[in-house]
Amino acid sequence: MKAILVEQLGKFEHLQPKEVPDPAPKSDQVIVRIEAAGVNFADISSAMGKYPGIKVPYIGGREFAGTVEGTGERVMGYTQTGAFAEKIAVPRALVWPQPQGWTSVESAAFPVNFFTAYLVYWKAGLTKDAWEPAAPSKSSRRALIHAVAGGVGTAAVQVGRLLGIETIGTSSSDEKLDQVKKLGLNHGINYSREDYQQRVMDLTNGEGVDCVFEMLGGEHTKRSTRCTRDFGRVILYGTATGERPEFDTLTMYSKSVSVHGLWLSTLAGNREVIGTAWKTLAPWTKSGELKPQVGHVFPLAKVSEAFALMLGRKNYGKIILTV
Ligand SMILES: NC(=O)c1ccc[n+]([C@@H]2O[C@H](COP(=O)([O-])OP(=O)(O)OC[C@H]3O[C@@H](n4cnc5c(N)ncnc54)[C@H](OP(=O)(O)O)[C@@H]3O)[C@@H](O)[C@H]2O)c1
Repeated sequence: MKAILVEQLGKFEHLQPKEVPDPAPKSDQVIVRIEAAGVNFADISSAMGKYPGIKVPYIGGREFAGTVEGTGERVMGYTQTGAFAEKIAVPRALVWPQPQGWTSVESAAFPVNFFTAYLVYWKAGLTKDAWEPAAPSKSSRRALIHAVAGGVGTAAVQVGRLLGIETIGTSSSDEKLDQVKKLGLNHGINYSREDYQQRVMDLTNGEGVDCVFEMLGGEHTKRSTRCTRDFGRVILYGTATGERPEFDTLTMYSKSVSVHGLWLSTLAGNREVIGTAWKTLAPWTKSGELKPQVGHVFPLAKVSEAFALMLGRKNYGKIILTV
């Protein structure tokens, strides 16, 4: 079969489909014939050698949609590697039925973004099945979502809307913010000309937010902490700046703020957590209240163009590779 085989870390410009052996399924696995795969920031970090636990050679790609070999069932799925390929062998537990009426392009945009978005709210204590009771009762609950126009960001706006959460999002582009507002984003902040910390305080009468989707790292971790209200939670799930998170412990003490980590790669192995998240998300996909925002579609051979688009901050929503 053809696949994007990464043999050398540190660059991605040369990546092209190569002939590799077909996957051999283990006893708990099914083979999925992939029609589309989602591009994630983690795919770029991995190829650049900046993602933990990645060893070459490996086949890139963490999410996919297609049909189960033998049954023809239309599914979408999550994996650590192997989705940028014609076929993949994956555990049954990590594939879900494609929502009715969705194409494989739409379905491949679901697993990473929507599970991550839901689990951030869950970790922040803002869902019904929350990991811990939410902090003191509040009339309105608010989330600050960095990179709100991206894959996870656009998912977070939709899930937030369904959870009754007021959403504030950041982006480098007014055009992208206008697009996300159509999904229900309540307030957009263009960080290239506005100080998001100040603006969050202005928008919330000086109170701050309950939860921050923090995927930037560096100084943004401490600035995000300063955007929270008392008992707020900052959920760290990425470092797009490539910089180590910096902490403002004084703000953490004074507002009883906590900073949590979240990694779908390991949570995906926890059937209870993922199963509960799916139980909430599935009906919303069925009712049409959740819909992945596919901004760009490339053929598999143009994987490096897709990566460059995301790294250049030019993507809106999800980038999909068709196989
Ligand atoms: N922990 C987990 O399990 C998990 C799961 C999924 C994703 N993530 C993380 O979540 C983040 C978003 O992932 P995604 O796949 O959904 O990507 P994405 O948001 O679709 O694309 C990245 C966006 O980040 C923004 N950005 C801000 N600073 C950036 C920088 N220094 N370099 C590049 N982009 C920058 C850009 O949007 P603007 O120009 O609009 O700001 C860019 O379009 C990544 O950090 C990723 O690693 C983590």
